[in-house]
Amino acid sequence: MSLAFELTPHPSPVDTKTRARILSNPGFGKHFTDHMITIRWTAEAGWHDAQLMPRGPFQIDPAASVLHYAQEIFEGMKAYRGTDGRIRMFRPQENARRFNQSAMRMAMPEIPEDIFLDAVGRLVTADEDWIPAGSGSLYLRPFMFADDAFLGVRPASSYIFCIIACPVGAYFKGGDSAIRLWVTPDYIRAAPGGTGAAKCGGNYAGSLVAQRQAIAQDCDQVLFLDAIEGRWVEELGGMNIFFVFDDHSIITPPLRGTILPGITRASLLTIAADLGMTISEQPYSFSQWEADAASGRLREAFACGTAAVVAGIGTVASPTGQFTIGEGTTGSVTTMLRDALMNVQRGETPDRHRWVYSLS
Ligand code: PLP
Ligand code: COI
Repeated sequence: MSLAFELTPHPSPVDTKTRARILSNPGFGKHFTDHMITIRWTAEAGWHDAQLMPRGPFQIDPAASVLHYAQEIFEGMKAYRGTDGRIRMFRPQENARRFNQSAMRMAMPEIPEDIFLDAVGRLVTADEDWIPAGSGSLYLRPFMFADDAFLGVRPASSYIFCIIACPVGAYFKGGDSAIRLWVTPDYIRAAPGGTGAAKCGGNYAGSLVAQRQAIAQDCDQVLFLDAIEGRWVEELGGMNIFFVFDDHSIITPPLRGTILPGITRASLLTIAADLGMTISEQPYSFSQWEADAASGRLREAFACGTAAVVAGIGTVASPTGQFTIGEGTTGSVTTMLRDALMNVQRGETPDRHRWVYSLS
C-alpha cells in the first residue's frame, strides 16, 4: 500500500554555511532539518493527507487527547552516509514493526509498514544534505499522537503521524568515555502488564524524576530494577544493558514485557554469536552484579540503543555506595562489538544478515 504525497519544499531552507557549521558539531537532538512528514488518520478515512512539508509547529486543539491522556508513541532510527557516499539505514523494518506493536498497546491505529518506510525514505532523501559525514548520522524520529478534541477517556478517533529529523553526533556529553549509572531505589520504570515494552512517551515522562536524581549524582543514565522484587536489572531510561564475562561470554536481561525490545540489543546478540561468543538472555540481579564487579568475574558492561549506539559503563552508583567495572573505562569486548555494529551500519563490512536498507 502506498499513499500519494503532497510535496511542499521549504521556501527558505537553512543556508549552506549555517548547515555546515551545525554538521561540524551537531550534538544530539537540538538541531533539526528543513522538512517533516505528516500523515493523518481518522476512523472514517483511515490514513490520508500525506505531506512532505517545511518543518514547523502544529496547531492542535487544547482538548486534544494527547495533551491529557498521553496517547503517543515514537521510534528512533538513523540514516548514515558511508565513505562511498551512499545513504543507508539499519533495519528500519524492525522500527516499523515495533511502532505498530507500540500502537497496538496504546490502542492506536497501525500504519502499514510500506507507508512507514516510504515516509522515512522520503524525508531522508529530501534532507540528505543534513546527513553528517564521518561518525555522525541523521536521527529520525517518527511519532504519532491523538489529536481528537474530546475529554472522555477512550481511544481517540483522529491521529497525526509525523517524522522529524536531526543531525546527531555522540549522545553522551563525554563522547566515547565510559558512562556512570545511577540505580534508583525509589522508582520503577515498568511493571508486568504495563507499557514497558512499548515505546510510548509516558514511559519516558515517568522516568524523568529518576533521571533527575541521576543527574544530581553526576550520572549519565538511570538504571531501573524490576517492579516486583526490586532485585533484577532491567534496563536504563533509554537503553538496554549487557554484561561481559571473560572474553567470550555476554548476558543481557530477557524480554518479559517490561523492557523495550531494542533493535540494537537484538543485533548485538546476533553479532556476538557470529563472533563465536556465548550469548545468554537471563535475569541478573543487582547484588550479583556488585559481587561480580568486586571479584573481577565481570569484565565489562555496556549500554546500547540507537541514540547511544554502544556505550561502556564505568561506574555504578546507588544509595549504598558505588562500584567500578574493570578499569572503569570502555572495555575491549565492548569496543569490538561497537565497531562490528557500526561497520555494518555504515556499509563497511559485508551485510550477512541483510540488515542494511540502502536509499542511494
Ligand atoms: N530501551 C529504551 C527504554 C529505549 O528508549 C531504547 C531506545 O530506543 C532502547 C532500549 C534501545 O532500543 P533500540 O536499540 O531499538 O534503539
Ligand atoms: C533512541 O535510542 O532512539 C531513543 O529513543 C532513546 C532516547 C534516549 C533518545
